[in-house]
Amino acid sequence: MIRIIGVSLIASASLLFGCGGAQPEATTEATPAAQPEAGTQAEDGEAQADRGAKLYAEHCASCHGASGEGDKAPAVVGKSALPLDPPTTAKGRTMQFKTALDVAQFVVKNMPPDKPGSLSESEYWDILAFDLKANGVDVAGKKIDATTAAQINLH
Ligand code: HEC
Repeated sequence: MIRIIGVSLIASASLLFGCGGAQPEATTEATPAAQPEAGTQAEDGEAQADRGAKLYAEHCASCHGASGEGDKAPAVVGKSALPLDPPTTAKGRTMQFKTALDVAQFVVKNMPPDKPGSLSESEYWDILAFDLKANGVDVAGKKIDATTAAQINLH
């Protein structure tokens, strides 16, 4: 279990922190034959979102609102949150948010604005897990990483 998480984090790191906008093919080879049991996965997904809620409060809520409803910055929770195209007010975002992985890539490169990339990869994944849960996205209890995030279509 621990080994599998380790492998997927390494894959995430290369996806998120790799140079340019290249889309590496690393995700497929990083999936080992053995998969954790569904029950274990569900627990992991819940725990991850709980950790993410705390991290969100600490690092993101001051601008995006306590419940992600938006404040000094666009909403990240709610019906109009995470729109496919950048909001008309966007200054930084030019990319579309097709999948949860797109959101992760934007966030790691740009958030928080004064210290982009200052959280660890696992902390960014935890926050994304929280944000998906808060938006009612059904992730089937899965832990969010580069592989699962790429499979979550937001629109
Ligand atoms: C100091 C204020 C501030 C903090 C703290 C902050 N953000 Fe942001 N965030 C912004 C602003 C401003 C934008 C709009 C950027 C743009 O597109 O020009 C934004 C945009 C975003 C977007 C894209 C929204 C959209 O619809 O285009 C996401 C997702 C996001 N932030 C997530 C986060 C996360 C996760 C954190 C915590 C790790 C965080 N932000 C911390 C100010 C902040």
